[in-house]
Amino acid sequence: MLGAVQDFSLTMQHIRNTIGVLATGGTIAGTAGSAAEEADYWAGTVAVDQLVTTLPAPPPALLVLEQVAQIDSKDADGAFWLHLAARCRHWLDQSEITGLVIPHGTDTLEETAYFLSRVLPTTKPVVLTCAMRLASAHAPDGPRNLLDAIHLATDPHATGVLAVCAGDVHSAFNVQKVHTSRLNAFASGDAGPLAQFSDRRLIWQRNCPSALIQQPLFALEKIASAVQLPRVEIVMNHAGATGLVVRALVQTGVHGLVAAGTGNGTLSRALEAALIDAQAAGVRVMRASRCALGDVRPSAGDPFEPSLGLSAVKARIALMLDLLG
Ligand code: SIN
Repeated sequence: MLGAVQDFSLTMQHIRNTIGVLATGGTIAGTAGSAAEEADYWAGTVAVDQLVTTLPAPPPALLVLEQVAQIDSKDADGAFWLHLAARCRHWLDQSEITGLVIPHGTDTLEETAYFLSRVLPTTKPVVLTCAMRLASAHAPDGPRNLLDAIHLATDPHATGVLAVCAGDVHSAFNVQKVHTSRLNAFASGDAGPLAQFSDRRLIWQRNCPSALIQQPLFALEKIASAVQLPRVEIVMNHAGATGLVVRALVQTGVHGLVAAGTGNGTLSRALEAALIDAQAAGVRVMRASRCALGDVRPSAGDPFEPSLGLSAVKARIALMLDLLG
């Protein structure tokens, strides 16, 4: 469905915003055989026009709906990101569209958010949201999260790519899924959330980061014309880590590697040696940490590129974009 307009019978005087809802799948649109079933389910089966009928209150905006994808976000890939970014760009270019909301699976939400933040030249809000409970559950959290996302996308302080889950608002740069099952599964590390919904009011703790200041934007046209996104893999340090995985990846022609090191990005001698050999063979290597909190502090003479506060999964995206540049 492309561009269907949902009429929630609010009078036009109450509506100052038009929000595009670009649905992509996930648990927020997931169903199982019964309301009690949690583990065995299909992500993304509920279409966006059905999803918006479950909102717990009328949205403060006219909604324009598009079903961009219906995937489980564990299967998100470069082609999905490019397609979603192109659809975002299409809607953001329409002057009547004041913001976008993207229902998305929780599992790779932070990666999609970061990718979009690097390729969409917009000050209009683009808000990703999700759910930890299925749409078919007894008490789904998706409808509330979706309504919060629409409210956030109409807030005058909201700008750039954001995420909202369980009332917490996060930046694309900091957001991370940190829990496998609780409703508030996301956090922003040491930075904390940008804002919180409290009694249906949005309380801002900090300004939204400016994407332009944070990291350079990449022209979507340039990325879209790439035959293939560069292949960047993540390798993790752990007790007993050898360099065998790295050496095997180099054999397959990998373009970049992100080393998710222990602690402050440290690597076993064998893994470090393999990464240095990979680099000598022309593979770009970036050093990140497998820790959930904290940055890898850059050190003089480090043979590898710094991940500049990015988690390993986001450093992978940064390296992919950089390789294209
Ligand atoms: C997904 O990421 O698509 C499935 C899991 C979820 O949304 O919680």
